[in-house]
Amino acid sequence: MKRIGMGLVGAGFVGPHHIDAVRRLGFVDVVAVAGSSDESGRGKAEALGVQKGYGSYQALLDDPDVQVVHNATPNYLHYEVTSAALARGKHVVSDKPLAMTAAQAKRLVNEAQRAGVVAAVTFNYRGNPLVQQARLAIVRGDIGTPHFLHGYYLQDWLIKDTDYSWRLDPEKGGASSALGDIGSHWCDLAQHVTGLRITHVLGDIATVVKKRKKPRGLREAFQTEVDGDGEFVDIRVEDLASVLVRFDNGARGCFSVGQVCAGHKNDLVLEVCGRKASLRWRQEAQNELWVGHRDTANEVLQKDPSLLDADARGYAHLPGGHQEAWADAFCNLMREIYRCIAEGPPYASLPPMVATFEDGFRANRIVDAILESAADGGAWTAVGK
Ligand SMILES: NC(=O)c1ccc[n+]([C@@H]2O[C@H](COP(=O)([O-])OP(=O)(O)OC[C@H]3O[C@@H](n4cnc5c(N)ncnc54)[C@H](O)[C@@H]3O)[C@@H](O)[C@H]2O)c1
Repeated sequence: MKRIGMGLVGAGFVGPHHIDAVRRLGFVDVVAVAGSSDESGRGKAEALGVQKGYGSYQALLDDPDVQVVHNATPNYLHYEVTSAALARGKHVVSDKPLAMTAAQAKRLVNEAQRAGVVAAVTFNYRGNPLVQQARLAIVRGDIGTPHFLHGYYLQDWLIKDTDYSWRLDPEKGGASSALGDIGSHWCDLAQHVTGLRITHVLGDIATVVKKRKKPRGLREAFQTEVDGDGEFVDIRVEDLASVLVRFDNGARGCFSVGQVCAGHKNDLVLEVCGRKASLRWRQEAQNELWVGHRDTANEVLQKDPSLLDADARGYAHLPGGHQEAWADAFCNLMREIYRCIAEGPPYASLPPMVATFEDGFRANRIVDAILESAADGGAWTAVGK
């Protein structure tokens, strides 16, 4: 198989997982990493065992060996890095959100179309085998028509006033923190699993930690305070939100997101209630899918390739009882994206499991509508097309 060259821009928390995932594919060479300075580019390349470390994303884009650019920079750089990569005719794997604003995201949808390359967004929870099993079960009609979707996505890594991330600075993270960062995952997953579209939202948002100590230097995601250095600043973006949701088939829903909920580490829960049965998947126990019945005992389906549908089985790589996790689901996504790239032009559409730039744009639109609803005092608000 022809080998494919990958370059990563932004090697903080999630970037190295992009590298791990593509290395597992066997036909992808991790060619280069770009950091925010020469020193950080070189340091990251050395730490990750990558041959070339660049001090700017422009230098990485100049490298002819880089065919696929992975954008794992803070949100405010998403548009410029992705747009520049597309202009060079490179394939792009953008971490979410696709862009900081819906207007930028829409521009990227058009730019990717014009470039004629493979362009994907890492809404990675789609890559879990039991998520795909749930999706296929719903398509088959196993639970009947969904009428209620509910759940939450809660974390606790920003609960202290000494916890800080660029996500809390609207200039760097965008107008939203919790909703944009993790609410977007919940909405994408709910729509992906059911095939429904969120049409209207009613949001209530809050900033629980109103002042935070902002470190003077760089702090990557999930790092805690090290040296006590920094000063308290006002926080304007939400770290907690609850949302009522309406879907295009008339189904109702609700979810909460929070980055300030002790004990919840990466606790994403989605339950879909249909007229015949319910399904529930929880990221923190991702090897199980709960199936709720009215007239028979409820069930728990274990992640076991021999028990999964043929179309979901390929996403499980170990026998039952051997736990698979976040990084395995992330790798499933990369396998599908690079399969498309390897097949060559004209590039086929990505399989449903991979979020497209259109999906990324839609996620931006939903978050915008929730913020608008909250600003209107909790009014039902249509999600823009
Ligand atoms: N899909 C997921 O589940 C998931 C999980 C975490 C983060 N993310 C997304 O990934 C992106 C990065 O998040 P993170 O948590 O890894 O953040 P992070 O702060 O841990 O890492 C960002 C990295 O980008 C680097 N950087 C900053 N400016 C740069 C520049 N000009 N050129 C190159 N590198 C630069 C920083 O030095 C840092 O190493 C965000 O958009 C976030 O929403 C997605």
